[in-house]
Amino acid sequence: MTHSHHHPRTLEGKSAVVTGGASGIGGAITKLFVARGARVVVVDLQEDAGRALADGSGDAVAFVPGDVSDRDVAERAVATAVERFGSLDVLVNNASVSRQKPFEEQTDEDWALAMDTGLYATRNFMLAALPELKRTGNASVVNFGSGAGLNGQPNQASYAAAKEAIRGLSRVAANEWASFNIRVNVVCPMALTAGVAAWAEARPEQYERSAASVPLGRFGDPDRDVAPVVAFLASDDARYMTGQTVMADGGSVKLR
Ligand SMILES: NC(=O)c1ccc[n+]([C@@H]2O[C@H](COP(=O)([O-])OP(=O)(O)OC[C@H]3O[C@@H](n4cnc5c(N)ncnc54)[C@H](O)[C@@H]3O)[C@@H](O)[C@H]2O)c1
Repeated sequence: MTHSHHHPRTLEGKSAVVTGGASGIGGAITKLFVARGARVVVVDLQEDAGRALADGSGDAVAFVPGDVSDRDVAERAVATAVERFGSLDVLVNNASVSRQKPFEEQTDEDWALAMDTGLYATRNFMLAALPELKRTGNASVVNFGSGAGLNGQPNQASYAAAKEAIRGLSRVAANEWASFNIRVNVVCPMALTAGVAAWAEARPEQYERSAASVPLGRFGDPDRDVAPVVAFLASDDARYMTGQTVMADGGSVKLR
C-alpha cells in the first residue's frame, strides 16, 4: 500500500464506492484514494483480490463481492458505505467488460455484456447512490469512457456504444444534479493494466506501434498517470468542473 505521508490529503473524510476497485485502474484508484484520506467500498468480481485489499487497509477499505450488472450489488455497495463510513460522497464507475470482434460478429450476448457491465451498471450505481450523494450536498461521480468510443476503434462496436452512451448519460446527470452540487465527469484512460500487458505480449508489434503513436510516447501507469486524475475529479479541487470528459491518455485524443 502507498505510504500516506507522501500524499496530499485531498480526499480526507470522504467516503467512496469504486466499482472494479480490486485490480487494474480500479485497484490503483482504491489505493490512491486511501492514501489521500478517503475510505473506500470496493465492488469486484475477484473475491481474493478484493479481500486482500480490504485486509491490508485497516478499516479504510470495505469489500463487497459481486457483479456490477446486478442491481442488488449496487444497493449493497451504497448501504455498506453508509454503514461503515457514515455517508457516500464519491462514486467511481470503473468496472466494465466487453468482447472484441468485428461488428457483424458481435452477438446479442456480446452486446448485453458490454451494455450491462458498462452502461446499465453505471446507471444502476448512480441511481442507488443518488439519495446519499444528495444528502452530502457536495458529491462527485466519476464515470469511465474510452478513446475506443471517441475514435471508433475497430472490433469495439458494443464497447464503443456503451462508453459513448455513458458520456451522454453523464452530461445529462451533470445538468440535472448540479442543483444538488453533485458533479458528474468522465475519465477516458489509457493504461498498461494486466489485460493490456497480455495483449502486448500476444501482439508485440501492434503494441509497439500503439505506444509510439501516443504523443507522450508510452502507455500510462494506472497508479501515477490515471488514478491521480480520478482523485482530482473526486476532490474539492475540481469543485467547479462538471459534465466534462477528461482524457488521461498521454495526449492521444484532443477534445474540442
Ligand atoms: N486500460 C486501458 O487502457 C483502458 C482504456 C480505455 C478505457 N478503459 C476503461 O477503464 C476502466 C478500467 O479498465 P481496466 O483496464 O483497469 O480494466 P480491468 O479489466 O483490468 O479491471 C477491471 C476490474 O473490474 C473488475 N470487474 C470486471 N467485470 C466486473 C463485473 N461485472 N462486476 C464487478 N467487477 C468487475 C475486474 O475484476 C477488475 O478488478 C474500464 O471502464 C475500461 O473500459 C481502460
